[in-house]
Amino acid sequence: MSFDRNSPYNALPPLPLELTDEWAARVETRRVLKEVIVASRELAELKGAGGAIPNQQILLTGILLQEARLSSEIENIVTTNDELYRANAGADLFMQASPHTKEVLRYREALWHGFQELSRRPLGTNLFVDIASIIKDQPMRIRDLPGTRLTGNDGRIVYTPPEGEERMRVLLGNLERFIHTPTGGLDPLIKLAMMHYQFEAIHPFTDGNGRTGRIINILFLIDKGLLELPVLYLSRYIISRKTQYYESLRRVTENGDWENWILYMLTGITETARDTRNMIMSIRDLMDAMTSEMQEKAPNVYSKDLLELIFEQPYCKIRFLENRGIARRQTASKYLKALAEAGLLHPVRSGREIYYINTRLIDVLAG
Ligand SMILES: Nc1ncnc2c1ncn2[C@@H]1O[C@H](COP(=O)(O)OP(=O)(O)OP(=O)(O)O)[C@@H](O)[C@H]1O
Ligand SMILES: [Mg+2]
Repeated sequence: MSFDRNSPYNALPPLPLELTDEWAARVETRRVLKEVIVASRELAELKGAGGAIPNQQILLTGILLQEARLSSEIENIVTTNDELYRANAGADLFMQASPHTKEVLRYREALWHGFQELSRRPLGTNLFVDIASIIKDQPMRIRDLPGTRLTGNDGRIVYTPPEGEERMRVLLGNLERFIHTPTGGLDPLIKLAMMHYQFEAIHPFTDGNGRTGRIINILFLIDKGLLELPVLYLSRYIISRKTQYYESLRRVTENGDWENWILYMLTGITETARDTRNMIMSIRDLMDAMTSEMQEKAPNVYSKDLLELIFEQPYCKIRFLENRGIARRQTASKYLKALAEAGLLHPVRSGREIYYINTRLIDVLAG
């Protein structure tokens, strides 16, 4: 059956719920199985590294924001770290933030929502709809009208997803079952790659499918117990190999080339698990270094809570110290000034507010 980029790919095959010899030959190749071992090992190390940071919120602010920023960049939604952290530091600043910055923060919110919902309901169509709706900031529904197409940079159509709401529901139902069945012991990382292709090929929404799909990847790893927190930085890899990403997806559709696609994703998991773990270690080292520095240069100000706060809120303000019960307003202000004088934070005025920026942490997060 031939594939035509210009007409809806209604013949998109469902994913296997049992591992036939034919499927096994396509997706469990020797090269794939070798890479699965490497990627699983890196992922296990990342899972372990999360525990190296005392307060998990620290990882979530930093890494989630970076993942949100880079995933959105794939869609050419570009924002600077400065804008992003500022907008993250207060509702007033969020209102003033550029639409792109807001969009990035919505990605973070969608990922966080998905993560929390996982303990309540299965990773499936309803949750996909939620995630897409948060990303797009409007109620999204499974496409029921024709006309969605994927075009390349030159405007040429590269892919036309299937059409017809009923067909879409059936495909999504199959995808959901695939996510939750063992498929003859097929390794979850291979399943992750297959699931991501299938989600993008179904392309259930009119927009936001790439970002929704990348959030689902992380949620899948958590659902399978391969990751504890949504901290894998997979979008950094994808954005640095975007052409290959598109190309590899296309080759599954056009040539049935699963091996190349699965290897692409496995390499991504290996590299980003390693990068994310290194980042966690760097954050931990920086926390140690800044603890010593604070104890030495501002001993009256040092507390574990304050140190953790400037890692949780790299754009810190007096209000945050008050909210955390670290100090009342005047004292809080003195504390932050003292940390600035000691060279630990950088004060920046913005309207009536002064932000004390943990620039060293921002540098680590920006990689
Ligand atoms: N040939 C293809 N077949 C299936 N899916 C594809 C193909 N090429 C790209 N895609 C997927 O489509 C996504 C783009 O779809 P869409 O615009 O709905 O998502 P988005 O989140 O708005 O964009 P982006 O992923 O660029 O951030 C890509 O990120 C990729 O995951
Ligand atoms: Mg788009």
